[in-house]
Amino acid sequence: MSNAITAVGVDIGGTGIKGALVDLKTGVLLSDRVKVRTPAGAEPDDVLAAVRQVLDTLGVSDAEVPLGVAFPAIVKHGRTLSAANVAHTWIGFEAEKFFEDGLGREIHFANDADVAGVAELRFGAARDAAGLTILTTLGTGIGSAMIHDGVLIPNSELGHLQRAGETTDAEAYAAYSAMERENLDWPQWAARLQWYYSHVEFLFSPDLFIVGGGVSKHADQFLPLLDLKTPIVPAVHRNNAGIIGAAALALATAGTDAVGGAADSLAEATTG
Ligand code: BGC
Repeated sequence: MSNAITAVGVDIGGTGIKGALVDLKTGVLLSDRVKVRTPAGAEPDDVLAAVRQVLDTLGVSDAEVPLGVAFPAIVKHGRTLSAANVAHTWIGFEAEKFFEDGLGREIHFANDADVAGVAELRFGAARDAAGLTILTTLGTGIGSAMIHDGVLIPNSELGHLQRAGETTDAEAYAAYSAMERENLDWPQWAARLQWYYSHVEFLFSPDLFIVGGGVSKHADQFLPLLDLKTPIVPAVHRNNAGIIGAAALALATAGTDAVGGAADSLAEATTG
């Protein structure tokens, strides 16, 4: 443990904000996983206060431990450019700078599904995967990370694929939140996922699908119901992939190769 390379990862979601201290040599959490509810409306000041609470609870409020923050929106050059499950204030918002000023420390900042992709690439189901891997997170929304031969293409938004002839997008129809909202049982929800993954499969011909998000811990309830040409597996790090990937991002630019090239290229694309 003494030579662990550590960083803190905070994963901001539409429903919860989770954080932990992570050993980046192994991808193992070194602390309890702290979770608070995402404040109603998810306005920037309230989200900042909740992130502060997570850091305080973890006992890592000082700037010494590198910090990576994952956010459920398009992130380019430190700005959030979309807001599907958070306040519209975030659209075109200097979010990275806002968190840095508010927390009084440097942070590294990227899309939540992209950092989950980094975690699975480094420590999980996408390790050594050749060709195109598409990771999707099924939660409040649907997030996506596209990885080709170990290179992550940031800010894919495959949760917002439009459904032909419908006014709602894929996320509104097939995210885990749709199952909860509409009281669907596993087969009913799986039928929606069947449409979703078949459509993505047709568009991109991936070599591997990885399913993350909290519901991935129940993967045996719905993955066997899907009929796809592409192998589909749960994220090894389940709902912690976002925390681990955010922590990896924090070290991407710190001159260590512990986190691998994917975190580096993501950091380059998303950091302000
Ligand atoms: C957002 C994505 C995010 C996903 C999962 C979607 O609504 O547009 O950026 O990755 O939710 O949180």
